[in-house]
Amino acid sequence: MADVKRIGVLTGGGDSPGINAAIRAIVRRAKPAGLDVVGSRDGWWGAVEDDLVPLGLGDVAGILHIGGTILGTSRTNPFQKNADTGAWTPTSKVDQILETLKRRQVEALIAIGGDDTLGVAHRLAPHGVRAVGIPQTIDNDIAGTDYAIGFHSALAVVTDALDRLHTTAHAHHRVLIVEVMGRDAGWIAILGGLAGGADVILAPEEPFSVGEVEEALQRRLDAGRRFSIIVVAEGARPVELGSRPVATEGRVDAFGHPQLGGVGYWLAAELEKAGLPLTPRVTVLSYLQRGGVATPTDRLLATRFGAAAVEFSQDGQYDVMVALHGPTVVAVPLAEALAGCPKPVGPEFLDLARNIGVR
Ligand code: F6P
Repeated sequence: MADVKRIGVLTGGGDSPGINAAIRAIVRRAKPAGLDVVGSRDGWWGAVEDDLVPLGLGDVAGILHIGGTILGTSRTNPFQKNADTGAWTPTSKVDQILETLKRRQVEALIAIGGDDTLGVAHRLAPHGVRAVGIPQTIDNDIAGTDYAIGFHSALAVVTDALDRLHTTAHAHHRVLIVEVMGRDAGWIAILGGLAGGADVILAPEEPFSVGEVEEALQRRLDAGRRFSIIVVAEGARPVELGSRPVATEGRVDAFGHPQLGGVGYWLAAELEKAGLPLTPRVTVLSYLQRGGVATPTDRLLATRFGAAAVEFSQDGQYDVMVALHGPTVVAVPLAEALAGCPKPVGPEFLDLARNIGVR
């Protein structure tokens, strides 16, 4: 049993539906156990700038289903990457975080986010910060857990969009290209594409060529199918572009990630050149995938993760991440989870797509 009386909570990186359900569960699990909870505004920024807010039962009432995060988020990074070694070195923001935690008597932290946010929590451990991570990203690319909060909600958005796009693609005999999120892994593209009946799925896991896509479309035409749906992840890698994703020149976030996007329009232009008797049109789902209400699956996952994070911190288990292994919530070392990031989609789904005739 750890001597924790006050827990801090923060939400960093790209948001997703389900975060608020986790915050709610943390407060509802902590309060009856006699723990105080404070929230850091806008991810690590609040801890750097001493912008902490008390979180009581009243503050988390009515937020279970609501997307976004009541605490706000940011991509604040208190470490900087050494250009030569690639190692992360602390900036003065680390000292500010330590001072804030000491001043506000925050004895343990629960960090909710993707590999960037959880990576900061892990790198703060040698500085004496006791943290438990909760995996949250629509990209579902965090290793060590079957699912991250937010993924199922994004999947629902993509599936609904594909259902809607099918009818108009069919009516107009078009190739509809749907660009979805997924920087390094194709969880949204592949599982969303399978759930929504896509004909072609292009994900970061395997580079693709325009020629292969043309062949797949031609096969459908030959079979009398006069429309096609292509799902392409923002991080998909065309061989024609050196197997690198389409990114906006010069735009890199605080963790060094280039801003991706545009592969859908690039592919449409390439297919147009090929002169197939099908008009390509593009839909970019973009931030729609991160918004809206959380699905029941995400609400339950977030509620389980939030409660477990409090329990792990009470038990003195730090530098760990709550994780779903089959039906069970477990603690995995953050080092182990981070080492496996970004977690690619495995052969069970890649083979399934291939075996049912999806490129
Ligand atoms: O939340 C993860 C993610 O959706 C990535 O797939 C995407 O590349 C990134 O966020 C974009 O987020 P932002 O524009 O907020 O930096």
